[in-house]
Amino acid sequence: MCSAHIFDANVMSTRKPATPSDATDAPADAPADAPADAPAVEREQQPTRLGDCRRCALWSKATQAVGGIGPKHAPIMMVGEQPGDKEDQQGKPFVGPAGQLLDDALQEAGVARRDVYVTNAVKHFKWEPRGKRRMHKTPAQREIDACRYWLERELASVGPRVIVALGATALKAILEDRAARLQAVVGKVLEHGGRHVVPTYHPSFALRAPDEATRQRAYAAIVAALRKAGTLAQRDASRERDE
Ligand code: URA
Repeated sequence: MCSAHIFDANVMSTRKPATPSDATDAPADAPADAPADAPAVEREQQPTRLGDCRRCALWSKATQAVGGIGPKHAPIMMVGEQPGDKEDQQGKPFVGPAGQLLDDALQEAGVARRDVYVTNAVKHFKWEPRGKRRMHKTPAQREIDACRYWLERELASVGPRVIVALGATALKAILEDRAARLQAVVGKVLEHGGRHVVPTYHPSFALRAPDEATRQRAYAAIVAALRKAGTLAQRDASRERDE
């Protein structure tokens, strides 16, 4: 994904990539009686810099926080789940295979990259060691809730007309609804907080679903969602011009 603007430039941390051996076995959320080596967590913290965030424990095993990227006032915001291994190392969202799939889908949908800001519901890579590899772990609801703080800031600063929710974690974060179910709303347009929300599959599903037919269907659904997002953004822009 190409870049124009990174939300909170301090995300370009100098920390080295974490390795499985950096992992602690401390709990994801450190309770009051947590062991001395548990990562620091300040749930009520209101940091101004993403790199300082201690609102949940994910910071402790990640290389760096990964903020959003894209034009400052993009009409469309795409929200994924969390940075993956490559994103964690490079400090930018969607730089791996999922990002390539999104670029292809945007092109097929006729949506210009300059109209899209890309971010994630959770800004730190959550993983567990498997041999030498760092395996993705789905963020817990408390981590989605803690990171909503940053998503709100991005929404306020970018002010998109349309949000594309890529997968179930993004949908829960955007709607602030832990019970939100992607399958129930894929292909629909929802309204939330004065914005259109277009839910679709996460690009990793279109890459990794077990059979080819499902992968193709998921990809087609992502293209359709992006096309819909582009149409809504253009329609709202021309209405605003006419007013
Ligand atoms: N998957 C995501 O949800 N976000 C990224 O940035 C990369 C992969």
